[in-house]
Amino acid sequence: MSSSPVYEATCTAPVNIAVVKYWGKRDTSLILPTNSSLSVTLSQDHLRSLTSARCITSGGADARDRLWLNGEEEEIKQGGRTERCLSEMRKMRKELEASNSSLPHIADFPIHIASENNFPTAAGLASSASGLSALIATLTTLYALTPENGVSVSSLSRIARQGSGSACRSMFGGYVAWEMGLKDDGSDSVAVEVAPVEHWPDLHALILVVSDKKKGTPSTAGMQRTVATSALLQHRIKEVVPARMQRITTAIQNRDFDAFAEETMADSNQFHAVCLDTFPPIFYMNDVSRAVIQLVTELNRASVEKGEGVKAAYTYDAGPNAVLYVQEKDVKQVLELVLRYFPQTAESFPDPFNVGAKPAQDVPQG
Ligand code: ADP
Ligand code: DP6
Ligand code: CO
Repeated sequence: MSSSPVYEATCTAPVNIAVVKYWGKRDTSLILPTNSSLSVTLSQDHLRSLTSARCITSGGADARDRLWLNGEEEEIKQGGRTERCLSEMRKMRKELEASNSSLPHIADFPIHIASENNFPTAAGLASSASGLSALIATLTTLYALTPENGVSVSSLSRIARQGSGSACRSMFGGYVAWEMGLKDDGSDSVAVEVAPVEHWPDLHALILVVSDKKKGTPSTAGMQRTVATSALLQHRIKEVVPARMQRITTAIQNRDFDAFAEETMADSNQFHAVCLDTFPPIFYMNDVSRAVIQLVTELNRASVEKGEGVKAAYTYDAGPNAVLYVQEKDVKQVLELVLRYFPQTAESFPDPFNVGAKPAQDVPQG
């Protein structure tokens, strides 16, 4: 008995959390940003997207590309970003098939895709970054678009960028810059590795889920409104970000946590100020987010006063959830502090550092 071959692949991709934020496009179709950005790709042992793709070889005439996200079907819009990624990857597969006659012709088959995030989707924890990066990684495997076949990670990052800007950075591990580029065709708007994770393995990211609800203003819509209405954005992209990119790159190269933390917190603050400067304004942080900022500020003030340096750096993407960058030696202390002031987080808390919850306290006022 012979059965027809199955063409399918499954891959995961991690989230990345920006310390210099991307917010604004100069070209909404190619996804070219108004400023360069820099992020840390987290370990995929924790937050990740898991994506499977299968070629539909025996479908009827109505067979088409379809996508399920967290068990629910999402429409693949004609001319939309997912469709664009699929067609770019198909184009590359067709070129490969044309140059290598031993490869099966699978580029024209419709594809069914199922993806699942193991963390809140569209809540400001970079699900579009891991999601679109996982999609590209899965299609890369399905279509054998590997370096041996002449396909670079950089060119895949260029395609991921067209799915969601922040996704281009998740194609690399460690410390990653997305250089905005100058060209209109986007060929120089790519992610590049600043340093591998082994360069500074001491840095940890603590994810504080303040709310797992879908945000009211998706990143794509929010940043376009900012580009259209915010004068502060123009100051940010011209006067602030270029120098900050240099300073934070140097801080990473020198493993200088104090400088890294200072730039990270300042950039998060300015990103949310730019959201407030948008009309109508966008509020991504809530009262709990602001209380976490106060707590970290107070912790750092007391620690610097004692000559012990900065303990934690907060950053918030387009949502209320906090990410704290902390050095390994301080993880236990910072976690204990967070759990003391926000004890409701203790129940579902995976506790690798063996930290117990204590009774709640009021966050100190600065
Ligand atoms: P976030 O802050 O989580 O990145 P965004 O508003 O940028 O939120 O993007 C959320 C959108 O990204 C979702 O509505 C969905 O369209 C897309 N997305 C999220 N996860 C995935 C995934 N695993 N696969 C494909 N698309 C995804
Ligand atoms: C605040 O990459 O989600 O997380 O390109 O429109 O899909 P699109 O937007 P997206 O924007 C991310 C914004 C941010 C900052 C960042 O990740 O740099
Ligand atoms: Co996003």
